Amino acid sequence: MARSLVVASIGLLCSSSFASALSWNATEYMFVFGDSYSTDGYNISAGINSPVPGYTSSDGQNWVQFLTGTYNQKAVKTFDLAYSGATIDAALVPPYRPTVLSVVDQVAQFDKYLASKPSGAAWDSTNSLFAVWIGINDIGNSESWTNITRVKFYGTLMDRLFSQVEDLHSKGARSFLFLTVPSVNRAPLYIQQGPKAAAKMGTNVAEYNTQLTQSVRTFKSKHPDLDTVTVVDTQPIFNVLLDNWQTFGFVNVTGYCEAYENGTPTTTYQVEDCAPVSNYFWLNDLHPLFTVHNILAKAVSTALSGYPATQIAI
Ligand SMILES: *[C@@H]1O[C@H](CO)[C@@H](O)[C@H](O)[C@H]1NC(C)=O
Ligand SMILES: *[C@@H]1O[C@H](CO)[C@@H](O)[C@H](O)[C@H]1NC(C)=O
Ligand SMILES: *[C@@H]1O[C@H](CO)[C@@H](O)[C@H](O)[C@H]1NC(C)=O
Ligand SMILES: *[C@@H]1O[C@H](CO)[C@@H](O)[C@H](O)[C@H]1NC(C)=O
Repeated sequence: MARSLVVASIGLLCSSSFASALSWNATEYMFVFGDSYSTDGYNISAGINSPVPGYTSSDGQNWVQFLTGTYNQKAVKTFDLAYSGATIDAALVPPYRPTVLSVVDQVAQFDKYLASKPSGAAWDSTNSLFAVWIGINDIGNSESWTNITRVKFYGTLMDRLFSQVEDLHSKGARSFLFLTVPSVNRAPLYIQQGPKAAAKMGTNVAEYNTQLTQSVRTFKSKHPDLDTVTVVDTQPIFNVLLDNWQTFGFVNVTGYCEAYENGTPTTTYQVEDCAPVSNYFWLNDLHPLFTVHNILAKAVSTALSGYPATQIAI
């Protein structure tokens, strides 16, 4: 009995060391689904070789660009389908403008332009990472609704989100990266609404993140053929920076400089009455600066390389 247990566990160890898990240093393609925190302005509707204008919400590079351009170990071809203002599904939570492409729309774009692995995007299951960072606008835009209970409604959102993840899986996606919703309750937009509103937002973000993590676990348990599935918790990253802002060299983490809110001509720009733009945490009422994205991207690359820090075990 004891002997067969030992043999069985040696067998397990062997099979896991033979498994070919996609690690960050072997990733050649990355597909990104999300909102303004992730977009780079790429518009695949004009063809997969459309230029990447690099329009971000961070007044510089965002986490996708830092991850694939600074913290990469290999050339990573990125198809960033994220869209500013995106929700999971506009039919569940309307975006701020009707033209915004939701995650459902972004996955439809993947299906239309990329699923067939055309020349220029000849990805395969073993070298491709599918990144999903969504939820800020779903939570924020439904914050005032009184016709839902959060627990139930976020469950509906998760069902919809994971129907899209299932779609990607059916097209051959095997490695996924999920990011939790960060501490947007600590952004000026919510601080300005007072401590009660900010606390409520914080509670809702926590509930969303709990359900997201649970949904990833369910997804993983359903599919033994999944390769690397990583959940990066952005909460401790944001919170450590926000709690220790002076140590990290931020001049202000509760407000922003209005002269910078729509972007600045350079990343070292400064106006009278404000510190240089790079010394702030928030560019405007909801978006962190490139400095924050840089730190986040570094943490994501560490998680993708298999280290447990900032990962939620699933
Ligand atoms: C993306 O490209 C399509 C096709 O060229 C165009 O119709 C659409 O307006 C573009 N979207 C944006 C946001 O520029
Ligand atoms: C709740 O109310 C909002 C705003 O009026 C609406 O857009 C949404 O569809 C409603 N949701 C549900 C689940 O009834
Ligand atoms: C940060 O900026 C906000 C808005 O301008 C201001 O109310 C607050 O006092 C500032 N905090 C610090 C520590 O300077
Ligand atoms: C890639 O990373 C994995 C662990 O994440 C490591 O085992 C492997 O040796 C690395 N390969 C190269 C070529 O550096």
